[in-house]
Amino acid sequence: MTFNQRLDLLTDYPFQRLAALLEDVTPPADGGLVMSIGEPQHAAPALIAETVAKTGGWNRYPPVAGTPELRASIAAWATRRFHLPDGMVDPGRNVLPVGGTREALYMIGQVAVPTVPGQRTPLVLMPNPFYQVYLASAVMNGAEPVMLPAEEATGFLPDVTALSRDVLDRAAMVFFCSPANPQGAVAPLETWKELVRLARAHDFLLVADECYSEIWRETPPPGVLEACRDLGGSLDNVVVFNSLSKRSSAAGMRSGAVIGDAAVLARFSRLRSYAAAATPVPLMAAAAALWDDEAHVADSRAKYQAKMAAADRILGPVLGRDRVAPEGGFFLWLDVGDGEAVTRRLWAEAGIKVLPGRYLTRDAPDGSNAGARYIRIALVHEPAVVEEALARIARTL
Ligand SMILES: Cc1ncc(COP(=O)(O)O)c(C=O)c1O
Repeated sequence: MTFNQRLDLLTDYPFQRLAALLEDVTPPADGGLVMSIGEPQHAAPALIAETVAKTGGWNRYPPVAGTPELRASIAAWATRRFHLPDGMVDPGRNVLPVGGTREALYMIGQVAVPTVPGQRTPLVLMPNPFYQVYLASAVMNGAEPVMLPAEEATGFLPDVTALSRDVLDRAAMVFFCSPANPQGAVAPLETWKELVRLARAHDFLLVADECYSEIWRETPPPGVLEACRDLGGSLDNVVVFNSLSKRSSAAGMRSGAVIGDAAVLARFSRLRSYAAAATPVPLMAAAAALWDDEAHVADSRAKYQAKMAAADRILGPVLGRDRVAPEGGFFLWLDVGDGEAVTRRLWAEAGIKVLPGRYLTRDAPDGSNAGARYIRIALVHEPAVVEEALARIARTL
């Protein structure tokens, strides 16, 4: 059989590589804590079960464009959260519920990457290190990925002012994640504005991945919708992805939202009619209830803030830094010299599974890897569990 060769351009997914790395390592008998996956372990809000219990709809095929109630809740949430004028986000035209954002981030490439015979291969730009689905979205749709360094020198975000005109002109799509996974850096509003201006000037789609926007230390991260507001209110060339997986500790619900350019969403919706698995109707009702409620989000955020403070307190002295936890998101991104070796030691000695930064970072053409010195630790368990784990990590480091 001849397969789609584009698939060979992707490495195994990070968690498969991690399983291979740790195959011959046995954790201590009292260990076995998984901090490699960004899967929030705070109790899921009671609202989910309560809403599902009183909602029918298991006998319905879920509408691909979502229920009107869910679209309205998402639009109202975005309007409140980002201080938008009423009407800027129209629930009918600018909102598309999705069955988790992973699939949607993958599938958006099929909408935005053109295939024009005879023209140069379109580019898809993304940070490096990055959420691995961006690369799949680029290469599986025939685009050439362009990695934008997001290392310490540029505050762990890509330097958008360093992009050449030629690259921008060829770009079909630019992925930008803030708060960033894995680095936790937060883009200032000015950066979002510059990205929106560039997207319009060079006519590419800006894909803002903001699924960690509700998990922050001191101030709510600015979002791309605020940049659009400040630039006059148009959503042209912009789509933003957010998710209940992180905000509401509900990764198992598979419910996310895309907000943005109406023309893009109309085409996306058409594609999704063919290819997407929508969230079941009772879970769409629960999702609407979650977007309407901030109390559970504030409770969860307070736990993350306690864990970030614990990370500074416990790991700071070991790493010789005052601050170890970043501005946003729930990952620690730590320079430990050799990420793979330390990952093996942490599993063997502390019984804690973390992820080598190399698996989230694409090799440079010279074979070097900017994430190789790093590990990513997900602070997803309850604060007491995380504190105990951080103490074990500190002893091993
Ligand atoms: C940066 C980023 N974007 C998107 C996602 C996808 O989340 P979901 O599919 O649960 O909405 C994740 C999940 O880990 C992520 O880290």
